[in-house]
Amino acid sequence: MRISVALLSLTLYFSLVAAQSPEWGQCGGIGWTGPTTCVAGTVCTFFNPYYSQCLPASNTITTTPPSSSPVSSTGPSGTVSIPPAPTGTNSNALARAAGKLYFGTATDNNELSDSAYVAILSDNTYFGQLTPANSMKWDATEPQQGAFSFSGGDQIVAQAKAHNQLMRGHNCVWYNQLPSWVSGGHFTTAQLTSIIQNHCGTLVGHYKGQIWDVVNEPFNDDGTWRADVFFNTLGTSYVDIALQAARAADPAAKLYINDYNIEQTGAKATAMLNLVKDLKSRGIPIDGVGLQCHFIVGEVPTSLQSIMQQFTALGVEVAITELDIRMTLPASTALLNQQETDYKNVIAACKAVSGCVGVTVWDYTDKYSWVPNTFSGQGEACPWDANLQKKPAYSGITAAWA
Ligand code: G3I
Repeated sequence: MRISVALLSLTLYFSLVAAQSPEWGQCGGIGWTGPTTCVAGTVCTFFNPYYSQCLPASNTITTTPPSSSPVSSTGPSGTVSIPPAPTGTNSNALARAAGKLYFGTATDNNELSDSAYVAILSDNTYFGQLTPANSMKWDATEPQQGAFSFSGGDQIVAQAKAHNQLMRGHNCVWYNQLPSWVSGGHFTTAQLTSIIQNHCGTLVGHYKGQIWDVVNEPFNDDGTWRADVFFNTLGTSYVDIALQAARAADPAAKLYINDYNIEQTGAKATAMLNLVKDLKSRGIPIDGVGLQCHFIVGEVPTSLQSIMQQFTALGVEVAITELDIRMTLPASTALLNQQETDYKNVIAACKAVSGCVGVTVWDYTDKYSWVPNTFSGQGEACPWDANLQKKPAYSGITAAWA
């Protein structure tokens, strides 16, 4: 009799202990069947409908619980409120007059201390939309598991808001710029599912009302899936998981998949077209496809317009998300003139496709272009030069919008 009472107490003790999640453990969320209370010294903190986590009581992360019951992840397409259109003959004013939502640019936090740069960036007759080049990526926003940092992204949002500019979030899930706890983690499918849901849900929930590159660069150039930690662990389902978490976190957000080398007919464009068809057929939320458009002077694909039309025919919008057109240095008059024609042709392609909602350049000035750091001996890819003066390329942009 004594033995069975002791056994009962022991079982009760262990079941009570087991009923609590450890520090950093999951403690709630759609589909979660584990413990919903946390060990002493930690607090069960709501991140999004899919994920609550036991955080140290002293943790300063602020999260907002849902005001109503969790939303459907397959709800209506996102709707982002569009700022009033500026007038005049500058690039964004002309894009708006042509019926587009914006002409925008990437920017980065270190650039915001350059007052001459910021003066042009802040002029919404030039730019109606900003994309943070780095500060919303995973390594910047969740460098340690569950420890979110929004300061860099918040700074760019504040800059955009102050000047009536739209924001494009970039990005939730990408093989690059991942902290090692993600890229080197040996996760089970359940663990990585929850990690993606938490990351995308928290990010999209924090930055509500934006356009989002939810999935970035999922394919290799031959159209096969990129073998990263997400694909290797979850197969193609990681795309569904990220999109559904983003939709649940903010039903208003516009959800995109973004990639390069899908601007010309070929295996990679076909893979993306097939992915969109598949997502649509299964009711997975997808609103748009981003065509990055990192081009080379004289080599803008002639199939750009037709590819965009093939995407919009599937019921998604498209956007040109990272446009720049690089050349082998030194620049010459001939190269700069060809670059003007190339910019003009890219903008004209977007203008001609009603479902192409806007164009973003991957920073407006050569002063801050990523190109020379990546392609040795190449550069001058942007429409403003390194002294913040407009190049012929800028005239190509405005001529095409007009
Ligand atoms: O954060 C470190 C900083 O701590 C360090 O002092 C500094 C020294 O160089 O490096 C900093 O990290 C750099 C980071 O940009 C932030 O400046 C990385 O080295 C550098 O590789 C990184 O480059 C970014 C690149 O993505 C990474 O792949 C570019 O700025 C960014 O423009 C570029 O953007 C990508 C898009 O996200 C996706 N499509 C292609 C596009 C161009 O590569």
